This record gives sequence, structure tokens and C-alpha cells, in this order.
Amino acid sequence: MNQFKLKYGDWALITGASAGIGEEFANKLASLGFNLVLAARRKDRLSKLKDELEKNYNVEVVAAPLDLLSENYLKELTQIIGDRHISLLVNNAGFGYRGEFLDGSAYNDEKMIKLNCIVPTVLTHHFVKPMIEKRKGGIIFLASLVAFQATPTTTTYSATKVFNAFLAEGLWYELKKYNIDVLSLNPGGTITEFQQVANSTAGPMPRTAKQVVETALKALGKKPSVVDGLYNKFLAVSTRFISRRLTVSLAGKISELFYKKH
Ligand SMILES: NC(=O)c1ccc[n+]([C@@H]2O[C@H](COP(=O)([O-])OP(=O)(O)OC[C@H]3O[C@@H](n4cnc5c(N)ncnc54)[C@H](OP(=O)(O)O)[C@@H]3O)[C@@H](O)[C@H]2O)c1
Repeated sequence: MNQFKLKYGDWALITGASAGIGEEFANKLASLGFNLVLAARRKDRLSKLKDELEKNYNVEVVAAPLDLLSENYLKELTQIIGDRHISLLVNNAGFGYRGEFLDGSAYNDEKMIKLNCIVPTVLTHHFVKPMIEKRKGGIIFLASLVAFQATPTTTTYSATKVFNAFLAEGLWYELKKYNIDVLSLNPGGTITEFQQVANSTAGPMPRTAKQVVETALKALGKKPSVVDGLYNKFLAVSTRFISRRLTVSLAGKISELFYKKH
């Protein structure tokens, strides 16, 4: 058995597994022999992915077609999971919005904060307890390059991502005594459906979901936080050497370039 599987157990839960980075986590973890629970809204996508992964990798895959913004999502999800022990949790589902704060709606921001911040917090509370009992597990949070500075014209989204980064890094410290590894995964622009949903672009040096997932699996258990890609690493580090005023102003200028004005 490979070392990764040995360390993180049999069952992984991936939220937002019907597309993009989540779908790539599903492919990679299945290739490493993990059984998977795949959560997202689009049932057809999940069923197709389940069939492909079971055929290609001889693993068990459970589709969990549900809306993580619905009132009863935790009950629905835990009913589908039954007594399977989730030992690797990938808190990936999320969406963004690019545009002036004032042009967005409070309702959209509320949904974003719930999906990007509250849902991962609730799922982590739920699934970490059995991991603690078994003294074994891993949890990955999808933060972002925009978690390194306030980023105008995607202001609420960047605030949700710094939440993920801080939650992950704090838990990295708190949970290591239970042999549970936590990672804040910080991709920059990555080509997925994200751009379409957020009215954005993947920027000048886009990465692939495959590269992001490789970065994550290499870093889990070795560090609390990782930035995917050299160019993105440079941007993340550069914020340490200039004032917050200059950082946010530059971030605003760069972000405006990413914003697709119609
Ligand atoms: N792509 C980037 O440039 C980038 C950069 C930094 C960080 N990230 C982060 O990476 C994560 C994954 O994004 P991605 O780029 O892979 O985007 P994506 O291709 O749009 O995938 C988003 C996933 O989340 C699921 N999802 C959305 N709303 C949901 C809901 N209410 N309930 C259940 N599932 C829901 C979607 O599935 P359904 O539509 O089927 O529900 C989909 O599977 C996000 O947290 C994002 O913030 C992305």
C-alpha cells in the first residue's frame, strides 16, 4: 500500500467534486486507492465520475448529490455516508464573485460566506471527532492567493479565503497532537469553472487543477500552508515586504485586470 493511503486511511470526502479542483482531487485520490464520497449539486456529473473512477481504479465511490447551502445538508450528507469512517476531508466547494462590492448583492455574499466559510467549519467539527478517536487523519482547506491580502473587486471572496487560511493554519497546530494533518491550500488563478461562475479570468500565468492537487498532496503533513506555483509563491511572499496600504492598492489594480467588464 502507498504511504499516503497508509497515513490517511480508506475514505476521503471531497466537497465540490463535480468540477475543477475537486474533480481532480477525486481522480488523484482514487488513483492512490482511496474510496470516495463525492459531494456537489450536479447529480449527473457525480454519477459519471463515480462510474469512471470505480471502473479505472477498483475503488468504492459514493455520490452525494446535495446543495451544501440547503438547511439540512449535514443530515443528508451523514445519512449518505452512513458508518463509513472519513479519514481525509477535502473542504473544496466554493465560489467567488468579481466586481465592485456595491454592484453585488448581500444575498450572494451571504451564500458565499456560508459555502466558503461556515460549511467547512461545520464539516470539520463533525468529521474531526472520529479522526481524533483513531489518532489519524487529514483535512485540506481551499484558501487562495487572495488570502494573502485584501483584494478589491473580489473583496468578500478574499475575506472568505483568509478565513479558510487562518482556520487551516490554526487547526494545523491544534490537531497535530492527535496525528491529524491540516493544510491551507492556496492556488492562484487555475483554469476551472470558477472563472465562469465568478465573472473572472485565470490571469496571466494560469495553473491546472492537476498541478494544484499535486502541490497539495506533496505538502500535506509537511507544512501548514502551501502556495501552488512559483509565480504565485513570488506574489504571496512579496506582500511581506511592502506596507498594507501599498499591498491592497496594488492588489486592487491587478484585480481590476482580472475583472471581466461587460
Ligand atoms: N480556480 C481558481 O482560480 C481558484 C483559485 C483559488 C482558490 N480556488 C478555490 O478552489 C475551490 C474549488 O474551485 P474550482 O476552481 O474547482 O471551481 P469550480 O470548477 O467552479 O468547482 C466548484 C465546485 O463546488 C461545487 N459547488 C458549488 N456550489 C455548491 C453548493 N451550493 N453545494 C455543493 N457543491 C457546490 C460545484 O459543484 P455543483 O455546481 O455541481 O454543485 C463544483 O463541484 C473553491 O473553494 C475556490 O474558492 C479556486
